[in-house]
Amino acid sequence: MNLNQKIYVAGHRGMVGSAIVRNLLAQGYTNIVTRTHAELDLTNQQAVQTFFAKEKPDQVYLAAAKVGGIHANNTYPAEFIYDNLMMQNNVIHQAFLSGVKKLLFLGSSCIYPQLAPQPMNEDALLTGKLEPTNEPYAIAKIAGIKMCESYNRQYGQSHGIDYRSVMPTNLYGPGDNYHPENSHVIPALIRRFYEAKVANAPEVMIWGSGTPKREFLYIDDMAAAAVFVMQLDKVTYDSQTEPMQSHINVGSGGDVTIAELAKAVGAVVGYHGVISFDPTKPDGSPRKWMDSGRLNNLGWNAQVGLEQGLKEAYQEFLSR
Ligand SMILES: NC(=O)c1ccc[n+]([C@@H]2O[C@H](COP(=O)([O-])OP(=O)(O)OC[C@H]3O[C@@H](n4cnc5c(N)ncnc54)[C@H](OP(=O)(O)O)[C@@H]3O)[C@@H](O)[C@H]2O)c1
Repeated sequence: MNLNQKIYVAGHRGMVGSAIVRNLLAQGYTNIVTRTHAELDLTNQQAVQTFFAKEKPDQVYLAAAKVGGIHANNTYPAEFIYDNLMMQNNVIHQAFLSGVKKLLFLGSSCIYPQLAPQPMNEDALLTGKLEPTNEPYAIAKIAGIKMCESYNRQYGQSHGIDYRSVMPTNLYGPGDNYHPENSHVIPALIRRFYEAKVANAPEVMIWGSGTPKREFLYIDDMAAAAVFVMQLDKVTYDSQTEPMQSHINVGSGGDVTIAELAKAVGAVVGYHGVISFDPTKPDGSPRKWMDSGRLNNLGWNAQVGLEQGLKEAYQEFLSR
């Protein structure tokens, strides 16, 4: 582990990228390169080429992406597929041309088919139809995995490159998006319970039946897993992956019902009113749960439990 290696973290102001930077700094890495979106638009091929030719990093974490909820994915499908394909194509290709030996591509659980068996393991990739609402985004992410694999297969031996991919489950914690209409379930619940507490509201109504089960991973666990996967030697990484099935799931290992989650968030926020559910609203898939066996076999397990993670997330929300 060479702490002086030059590491470029793309998307360092995002939730995942900022947590990766925190983890690298805590481990003692001293040479981290970053650029804001305004300084370097990763969809611009020429700008990305100039950046890599000048900086010549040793490693890259690709945590920049255009991300959003169902509404944004449905409203801007062209932007979701174009921006993500352009960013990842530019970064992966220019990283290769400038001599980057190690790169980590960040994907998401939406790469798996809508009806994948639960828990979803890595082999479920490309076995069925994707969830239509985020299909353009998922196609870009699948292309990113296949791009890393293709570069490894063509240039791995000749150029000594080793490009890897991780697929995180739902993440939460510091750096999350608390937008009232466009946030994921945990930040949305934190905001709603907080507002209900402040307003002394007697009841908080949650959309859906409360029975669907979802998996959540604390963001600093995710960052630790990303750095762990990057640091694995090639023989160990290859022992759990295949050249054309090389991605690794990153999950917490367990899931909770939305009702259990709402209760836990209400308790952390200190909301003492009634929590009710509106079953006339859509539920989504009954269960979405990652099989993180590959990562566990490699020696990594999540450290932060849901209650502790929610407390940290709430403290950060209050400090905004
Ligand atoms: N959050 C989750 O629950 C979750 C779960 C699974 C997987 N992931 C994956 O993790 C990765 C990062 O997600 P995140 O939650 O950290 O997203 P995020 O908070 O929205 O951060 C994304 C970052 O990418 C930057 N970016 C976007 N377009 C850019 C462009 N054209 N040029 C340069 N920078 C650009 C953004 O900068 P601006 O804001 O300035 O545009 C932002 O800093 C994504 O690949 C996502 O699929 C996230």
